[in-house]
Amino acid sequence: MTTVLITGASSGIGKAFAELFAKKKYRLILASRNEEKLNGIARQLRDNHGVEPILIPVDLAQRAGPVLLYERLSEQAIAVDVLVNNAGIGSFGLLHELDVHAELEMLQTNVHALSHLMMLFLPDMVKRGSGRILNVGSTTSFYPCPLSANYSASKAFVLSLTESVANELQGTGVTVTALCPGATGTDFFRSAKMESQKVSDPRALMSPQTVAEIGYRALMSGKTFVVPGFQNWLLTQAPRLFPRSFVTRITRSVLEQKR
Ligand SMILES: NC(=O)c1ccc[n+]([C@@H]2O[C@H](COP(=O)([O-])OP(=O)(O)OC[C@H]3O[C@@H](n4cnc5c(N)ncnc54)[C@H](OP(=O)(O)O)[C@@H]3O)[C@@H](O)[C@H]2O)c1
Repeated sequence: MTTVLITGASSGIGKAFAELFAKKKYRLILASRNEEKLNGIARQLRDNHGVEPILIPVDLAQRAGPVLLYERLSEQAIAVDVLVNNAGIGSFGLLHELDVHAELEMLQTNVHALSHLMMLFLPDMVKRGSGRILNVGSTTSFYPCPLSANYSASKAFVLSLTESVANELQGTGVTVTALCPGATGTDFFRSAKMESQKVSDPRALMSPQTVAEIGYRALMSGKTFVVPGFQNWLLTQAPRLFPRSFVTRITRSVLEQKR
């Protein structure tokens, strides 16, 4: 049976991935901090798709999180065929005013844990000569974003890491893909305290289901990266035509706009 591990599966894009892989009858391993939410999702998946996911509550903001996840699966001799590295959080504000602890936790989750999980699961995949990894970046992977400085830098890391490793993996049978969504209708903006910003206007948000479907197709075709939606794609390409300082001013003014 093909096994998929999805981090951040308790809501939003990760939950949409869980539903998608359940429909395709994968064996599911769902990880995130909130055990109660994971139990609720497991119930839904059982009722709607007849699958029985394995749930692993884990805090990826803790240094030991990725190893705990890897060891739990190794103990049960479960090989992961597909890793969806989706868990992530955002933040909003001037870097010098933000809470240092919360920012470091975000970097641990978005950057360190994502890379650590790749380094834990990739050797087994390469040995087997098959495997797929999907790393969730963002449209901000392509440009700096004042007022979300650490977050946008974390997502630039995700794209850069993915492109480098995708090249290294050529000929191994293993692929890695970055999914770079624009604004999506999830809990993300509430958690990042961006609810009153225009960027979180529900009319402009893509659904997490659409994002997951586009990500799934890119993952299965072994693409190095995908940006869901033509407008989002334009957003990621336009900065190449302008001076970087101009792009930074524009991204700041977009984030500053209130609803
Ligand atoms: N929504 C957007 O507009 C947007 C745009 C571009 C990229 N993204 C990216 O998409 C990914 C998914 O976000 P989302 O939009 O679906 O937001 P979401 O609904 O807030 O989901 C975030 C998921 O990450 C998990 N998570 C957060 N911190 C964690 C930690 N320390 N350890 C383990 N799991 C953790 C959360 O679960 P628990 O709370 O249960 O731990 C939740 O399942 C993120 O990487 C985000 O950066 C989102």
